Parts: sequence; C-alpha cells; structure tokens
Amino acid sequence: MRFGIYYFSGCGNTFWVAQRTIEALERRGHEVAFCHNLETALPMDLPKTDIDMFLSPIYYAGVPSLVVEKLKLMPITGNKKAVFWTVAGQFSGIGRRFGSFLLKDRGYNVMTTLLIRMPDTYLPLSISQVSEEQKQLIFQKAIDQIDMGLNEIDHNTTSPGEKKRTAILSALLYFPYLYYLRYVLSYCFISTSKCIHCGKCERDCPCQTIRIFKDRPSWHKNCTGCFRCVNTCPVSAIDISWIGIGFGVFGAVCSWFLATVFFAFLGSVLYFLLEWVAFFAGFWIGTWIFQKIYLYLPIEKYLMMKGKKRIFIADGKK
Ligand SMILES: Cc1cc2nc3c(=O)[nH]c(=O)nc-3n(C[C@H](O)[C@H](O)[C@H](O)COP(=O)(O)O)c2cc1C
Ligand code: SF4
Ligand code: SF4
Repeated sequence: MRFGIYYFSGCGNTFWVAQRTIEALERRGHEVAFCHNLETALPMDLPKTDIDMFLSPIYYAGVPSLVVEKLKLMPITGNKKAVFWTVAGQFSGIGRRFGSFLLKDRGYNVMTTLLIRMPDTYLPLSISQVSEEQKQLIFQKAIDQIDMGLNEIDHNTTSPGEKKRTAILSALLYFPYLYYLRYVLSYCFISTSKCIHCGKCERDCPCQTIRIFKDRPSWHKNCTGCFRCVNTCPVSAIDISWIGIGFGVFGAVCSWFLATVFFAFLGSVLYFLLEWVAFFAGFWIGTWIFQKIYLYLPIEKYLMMKGKKRIFIADGKK
C-alpha cells in the first residue's frame, strides 16, 4: 500500500516516531509517498496515496492548536482511509477523539487511533527528568507500539481509544488551552541574562510568536505551547516565571472584582459572563504587562526554571 504521512513535532519526539514509522512501513513492503511537516504550508500537488497517517503530539490533554488549524484546512476527501496517531508523555486525553473528529469532518474514514509514549517535553513537570536508561526503555516501547499500530492497519483492526470519562475530564483542560491559554502562555516565558542573542528561538518558533526586541526575545500571542524555544535554546536561557504567572493571577482577580462591582446590577447570566470575561482578560493583561517590564526589573533570581536541567529532545531536529 501507498502511505502519506502528515506530522507536527514541537521538540522532535513526533518526528522521531515518524522516522521509525517510515522505516517499519518500508520493512513491511509498503511505500511512503511523502512525509509532510504540518508546520509548513500544505503543497497543492502531493502524490496520491491509499492511506494517510496523521501524527500529532499531545499538549494539554489534546491536539496542539497548530495541528487543529492545519487539519481544518485539509482538502475534503471522499471516504479516504486515515489513521490518527498521538505521541504523549503519559496519556492522550481527548486528543485521539478530537483528531479523528477533525479528520472525519474533512471526509476521512479514520480506521484507527493510537497512543505512543515518548519522553515528556513539558518542562515544569519534574517527571520530565528521565535518565539515559529510562529513555532507551521508552524508545524500545515506542518502537513496539509503532509495530502494534501497523499490525492494526495491516489486519484492519482497532485498539480501544480513550474512555469516555477520560475524554470528558480532559476536555476541561484542553478547551481552555485551545480557546484561551495559547494566547497567554507565551507571556509567561522570559529570557534570562544568559541569552547570547543568537535568534534561534525566533527563527525556530513554529507559530512566529517570538520577536527579538532590545537584543532579547519577546513573546507574543498565539503560542501553540510546544516548548521548543525553552528546550532548544543553546544556553538554556529561557525560563517560565512564577512572577509572570503571579502578575496574571493578580490581574485576573482584580478584574474579576471590578467586574463584580460594576456589573452586579445587570441580569444574572450576563453578569456571570462579564465576570469571567474580565477574569481572563485580567490574566492576559497581567502576564502581558510582566513581559513588558521584566527587562527593567532585577528579578531574575526568582524565576521558576532557573538551574533546572533541560530535558531530552529525541533527535535534536525536526
Ligand atoms: C505544553 C505541553 C503539554 C503537554 N501535555 C501533555 C498531556 O496532557 N499529556 C501527556 O501525556 N503528555 C503531555 N505532554 C508531553 C508531550 O505530549 C510529549 O513529550 C510528546 O512526546 C512531545 O512531542 P513533540 O516533541 O513531537 O512535541 C505535553 C507537552 C507539552 C510541551
Ligand atoms: S535561543 Fe536562547 S540564546 Fe538564542 S536568542 Fe533565544 S533565548 Fe537568546
Ligand atoms: S513561543 Fe515557544 S512554546 Fe510557543 S510556539 Fe513558539 S517555540 Fe513553541
């Protein structure tokens, strides 16, 4: 059979899985017609295939916003076969269901979905710090999972997806990310004085969220949350700041309080909505203000990630 692969990889793990999948497909006598990185524009003239494979990492218990945006732009197909594979540190949350839903919306017949476990690139979690031995074990298991997934395709079988309860609970984390957090997340990043002004973070960001300002990176909205900038800075100069998050929380609480005082006389539903709009706007403004004044304050020693070891990136390239 002829396969086409579409993937996105923030820090290299999904790319690594894509490479191993290509090798495994070819060993099984299949042909891989193309391997397209969803970070780049969709070419108009991709070769014809029998099955399209979609490989996506899991961020915040779902599919990265960048992948969602690209899947929504896929050309409409007439019942073409597809598989949707996810790559996650632990669990795929609502990702497998949501990815399949988006593909079905483009006319795909989604045969099967899969979860492949790889090292966790979400830096704030201490479980991210895995030893060399653990990594090798994770890789071996990932190769086994890829084989299992290809068996499902070859024999037209499916493994169970997420349980309904897991999917519903994950949605509570995922949809706030998709519709709100990604506009705020990047304002919690800062570059420390270790920065050597190389511009790599600006060049590599898949969402063009980073601009160099006063020789140092400055983050803007629409960050897909891939943590590539943090994980691949050559001198580990990018941190997440508790103070930035603190500014956001302070702004959110103040705005919520003001909204309560000013809008309390309105009807209860509208009042409730305005309170929450104010809360989220306050968080956004708080983190934004922090980003702007950070460079002028001597607060580097309070930064959250300072001194922590950067975690592994599967291949160092995408
Ligand atoms: C912002 C962020 C959120 C994440 N959320 C989850 C999650 O909800 N569940 C999970 O199992 N792994 C989560 N991860 C871990 C990634 O899914 C995992 O490390 C994956 O291999 C990353 O692939 P990539 O290098 O191709 O981006 C998260 C990683 C990041 C950066
Ligand atoms: S990649 Fe690191 S060192 Fe280079 S500009 Fe960005 S923060 Fe500075
Ligand atoms: S700002 Fe960093 S985390 Fe956000 S999309 Fe760009 S590289 Fe990824």
